[in-house]
Amino acid sequence: MDFNLSEEHLMIRDAARDFAKAELLEGVIERDNEQRFPKEEVKKMGELGFLGMMASPEYGGGGMDTLSYVLAMEEISKIDASASVVMSVNNSLVCWGLDTYGTPEQKEKYLSKLTTGESIGAFCLSEPEAGSDATSQRTTAIDKGDHYVINGTKNWITNGGTSDFYLVIAQTDREKKHKGINAFIVEKGWEGFEIGPKEDKLGIRGSDTHSLIFNDVKVPKENRIGEDGFGFKFAMKTLAGGRIGIAAQALGIAAGAYELAKKYSKERKAFGTEIMNHQAIAFKLADMHTSIEAARMLVYRAARDKDNHENYDLSGAMAKLYASQVAMDVTVEAVQVHGGNGFVKEYHVERLMRDAKITQIYEGTSEIQKIVISRAILKD
Ligand code: CAA
Repeated sequence: MDFNLSEEHLMIRDAARDFAKAELLEGVIERDNEQRFPKEEVKKMGELGFLGMMASPEYGGGGMDTLSYVLAMEEISKIDASASVVMSVNNSLVCWGLDTYGTPEQKEKYLSKLTTGESIGAFCLSEPEAGSDATSQRTTAIDKGDHYVINGTKNWITNGGTSDFYLVIAQTDREKKHKGINAFIVEKGWEGFEIGPKEDKLGIRGSDTHSLIFNDVKVPKENRIGEDGFGFKFAMKTLAGGRIGIAAQALGIAAGAYELAKKYSKERKAFGTEIMNHQAIAFKLADMHTSIEAARMLVYRAARDKDNHENYDLSGAMAKLYASQVAMDVTVEAVQVHGGNGFVKEYHVERLMRDAKITQIYEGTSEIQKIVISRAILKD
């Protein structure tokens, strides 16, 4: 597979790198400490086109390919994984979902605001008792003729408090199981829609994760996405692409930690020489570099599959499974290379280590990726 990046790809990668260094680095430790959402920074990401990269230009999107998006995700995640998850959910779950399956009216009303960052979106599938087991939706959306009435609770929703528009998955007809599930666009502020408490998290602490409560929320029929019963397929299709974005996030977290460890190993001296001259450290860096390169190939390959309109369920799941493991392994080793300083916040690697863990959990745990992979490879 040819991964030669075009001039345009390189420009996008460099623009994301420059933005992350100039706008995200300063303040990233404070935002993590205080669990503060990067509001101003996300606004700038919208202005620069990072929030609707793949969406149609007629609705304000960048019309770019998935590889461009992955390159930008990687660079932004090297510095601030909290900002990159906002970017990932908005781009690959919300904008892509609406652009691909929304009506022209839905795109005009919602997508055109989401692509520019005027509004932020959230994707609401998980529930207290339906995390990995996504078909077991307890939230209901009862058909009342010209509208639906939604009741239930969603959990661990990224951008939960800061979003304006929420894509909500709910069960309309339980007898039909997953074929009775629908997806809806719900606006913040609608009667009966309550934002629950914010989660106090191990990592990606700058991102805004909430539970959401729906009490008889009236949703007009024109806000349903796709045909009646399309909601579960909508969620699965959208998540398959979302997993490529999270794989790129994991890759960026790993690469960011590796770059810091490499730099530190050239500066820090022990036993009379820079620590890079000790094989104990040099071999760690060799392992880190090798696993990051392997993860990068899987992530770019999944992006290429999506861009070439090939099935990307398998390649996306493999990319996420492997890159998230690499993110965990590399960040732990980066802390070790830093020794005592690695345990201190100002060296950044401890934050990257905490941030890495979520990439093995959200948008499908590693175990879910293995279900997707094993089903794909065993089906024939
Ligand atoms: N594309 C299209 N259709 C798909 C699909 C895909 N990738 N995957 C499944 N489907 C369809 C199947 O074809 C099937 O439809 P038919 O009956 O018409 O054939 C239907 O969906 C049900 O599929 P399964 O029988 O395979 O369903 P399952 O119950 O065995 O579950 C699963 C499959 C892969 C485990 C799925 O439940 C899953 O992905 N779970 C994890 C959910 C998840 O990722 N949650 C993350 C929450 S979102 C989040 O984290 C966002 C955030 O805030 C950061």
